Amino acid sequence: MTENNDQEEFALDVKNVSHWFGSNKVLNNVNLQIGHGQIVSIVGPSGCGKSTLLRAILATHPPKRGEIWSDGKRVRAPNRDVGIVYQHYSLYDFLTAQQNVAFGLMLDETSLPYRALVPWKWWPQRKKHMQAAGEYLDKVRLSHAKDLYPNEMSGGMRQRVAIAQALIMQPAILLLDEPFGALDEATREELQLMLLELYQENLQAKKDNGKPPFTILIVTHELNEALYVADRIIGLSQFHDDGKNGATIVYDKPAPVFHPNDERDFLAFNAQKDELRKAVFSPENLQQHAEYVTYWNEQKQAAT
Ligand SMILES: Nc1ncnc2c1ncn2[C@@H]1O[C@H](COP(=O)(O)OP(=O)(O)OP(=O)(O)O)[C@@H](O)[C@H]1O
Ligand SMILES: [Mg+2]
Repeated sequence: MTENNDQEEFALDVKNVSHWFGSNKVLNNVNLQIGHGQIVSIVGPSGCGKSTLLRAILATHPPKRGEIWSDGKRVRAPNRDVGIVYQHYSLYDFLTAQQNVAFGLMLDETSLPYRALVPWKWWPQRKKHMQAAGEYLDKVRLSHAKDLYPNEMSGGMRQRVAIAQALIMQPAILLLDEPFGALDEATREELQLMLLELYQENLQAKKDNGKPPFTILIVTHELNEALYVADRIIGLSQFHDDGKNGATIVYDKPAPVFHPNDERDFLAFNAQKDELRKAVFSPENLQQHAEYVTYWNEQKQAAT
C-alpha cells in the first residue's frame, strides 16, 4: 500500500501535532487517526487544549509542529473538507432555515458576478441548492421548520440548522465543540438522538458497501454524553508523564454503541467513567498512558 492510500483510509490523520502560546505549552505530540463514519468523543480537563486541537484541525490556527491530513489531503488552510459547529449557533438572521442551509453551497459554488450576470444559469443551481438544503434539514428532523427564521426557532432547532449547514458541505470530518452545552437537558437529549440517527445512516452505508457519509469529532465535558453518542472515546490531558510539555492523548478506547431506540442505561457506563476519571482527569495519576490508548490495537485484533 502506498503512503497516499494509507492516508486516504482516514477521514482525519493528526500527525505529531504540538502547539504552544509563548511559554504555555498546550499540545504535546498529539497523534490521532479517525476512520470514515466514526463518531468520536473527546474529553479532557478544562483548559487542556481541546478547542486548540480543533482549531488546528480546522486550520484557522495551524499547529506550530506536526501535520493535519484529511481524506488523504494535507490541511493547510480552512476548506470544505473540515466543518465545525460551535456551542453558539451562527446563522444568518435574515435567512430562513432552508436558505441558511443552502447559503454555504451557494457561496462555494457560485460567485456574485456569476449570479448577477448569468442569472438564468444560476437559478437552476439555486433550486438544486435549496432542494439539497431541504434534504439535510430532513436528516436533522427539521423539515417542518424550513421556512422559519432563526428568531422564530428554539435554541435546539437553531443548533440543528447549524449542523445541517455544516453537513451539506459534505466535509470529510465535522468538528463539534461542546455543541449542546447551551441547551436544556431535554433538548440536549434530542440532539444526542439525532447523532445516533446519523450514525445509523453510516452503518447502513457500510452494509451497502458505500462510504459512510458522516464522520464526527465531538468535544463534550459530559461523560455520559461522550459515551452515549460516540463509537469511540478519546481523552486529551496534561496528566501524563511528559505533561509539563502539554496535553496529549492519554485514553483511546471504543465506546458502547447505541441504537436510537435503545434505553439510555447510563449505569452501564460507570466502570468506563471510573477508568476515564483515573486516566484523564486525575492529576495524581501521571502514568504511562499506553495501557489506555488501545483503540487501533483492539480493532486490529478483532479483524484477525
Ligand atoms: N489565542 C490564544 N492565545 C493564548 N493562549 C491561548 C489561546 N487560546 C487558548 N489559549 C490557552 O491554551 C490553553 C488551552 O485552551 P483551550 O481553549 O484549547 O482549552 P479547552 O480544553 O478547550 O478548555 P475548555 O474545556 O474550558 O473549553 C489554555 O491555557 C488557554 O489559556
Ligand atoms: Mg474549549
